[in-house]
Amino acid sequence: MRVALQILGFALALSGGFAQTAPEKVAPLSSATAEDLARGKRLYDSQCSQCHGPKGDGGTGANLAQPSLRLATTDEALVRIIREGIPGTDMPATPAMTEHEWWLTAAYVRTLGKIPPEKIAGDPERGKLIFTGKGGCTACHSIHGRGGRFGPELGDIGARRSASHLRQSVLAPDADFTERYAFVRARLASGETLSGIRLNEDTFSIQFMDASERIHSFWKKDLAQLEILRNYSPMPPYAGRLSATELDDLVAYLVSLRGSK
Ligand code: HEC
Ligand code: HEC
Repeated sequence: MRVALQILGFALALSGGFAQTAPEKVAPLSSATAEDLARGKRLYDSQCSQCHGPKGDGGTGANLAQPSLRLATTDEALVRIIREGIPGTDMPATPAMTEHEWWLTAAYVRTLGKIPPEKIAGDPERGKLIFTGKGGCTACHSIHGRGGRFGPELGDIGARRSASHLRQSVLAPDADFTERYAFVRARLASGETLSGIRLNEDTFSIQFMDASERIHSFWKKDLAQLEILRNYSPMPPYAGRLSATELDDLVAYLVSLRGSK
């Protein structure tokens, strides 16, 4: 993807229509007019709201309705993130948008932060005890490197996903499977079946990790059958296994995980 974008940028630079390197300075986003913001909102609604939520308070994408953002700390950084995405995450680049459209969208995103933050009902300290105790979450998830590796590291999950997505992820993991994860089921020539979370895949090969954290690597041509499931999670659903208060506490704990140790 990155390579493809660089080639695209290069081709456009040759044709003279594209500034390859970002303009170091952008016009202050606070100078946007009401009309700019209305255009920014239309762009946001069509390109961003499916992940960041119609009000910006997040979904599979980060909560943008906050007074300050973790990565998009300056106007320039915000425009750059919208343009280039965040490599290695679900946040995509937007090569089809123009420079002015990046700016308009960024200006609108800044207004989302003026909305008061989402209120979280639970108690993060009690939630932590559920995470390490009754919930059994550490069997599969690590926080800052400590814990299981089968599920994703969650040390900064509160900064990357909204509270509503986190709640949904715990209640019904199948229903909230994001593009980032895929479940692999492979049948070998011997008839043996292996499954796990996809780590890497290209045209010819696939790598995945099974529930006992063993990594398997195959040439696709050597497999009798290969299924990539996008709506199946190996994480157990917790609906009905935690009380409403326990769930609130657990979500409050997940929201509090913002990357600092
Ligand atoms: C396919 C889902 C998806 C789409 C579409 C998407 N984003 Fe994102 N975005 C994400 C995710 C996931 C993250 C968090 C990445 C991370 O740090 O792990 C993110 C992060 C961000 C951040 C950084 C937030 C911070 O804390 O600094 C900004 C800003 C942002 N997105 C803006 C946008 C805008 C504006 C659009 C539309 C042009 C957009 N995104 C489209 C998924 C998406
Ligand atoms: C059997 C292993 C396993 C257990 C136990 C488990 N998870 Fe997961 N979890 C996973 C896997 C694998 C994924 C990635 C696929 C998916 O999204 O479901 C995941 C995904 C998640 C996500 C979504 C991450 C994202 O990037 O959006 C959250 C949040 C989460 N788990 C929290 C929890 C919590 C809280 C518990 C305990 C109550 C828990 N998990 C127990 C394996 C597990």
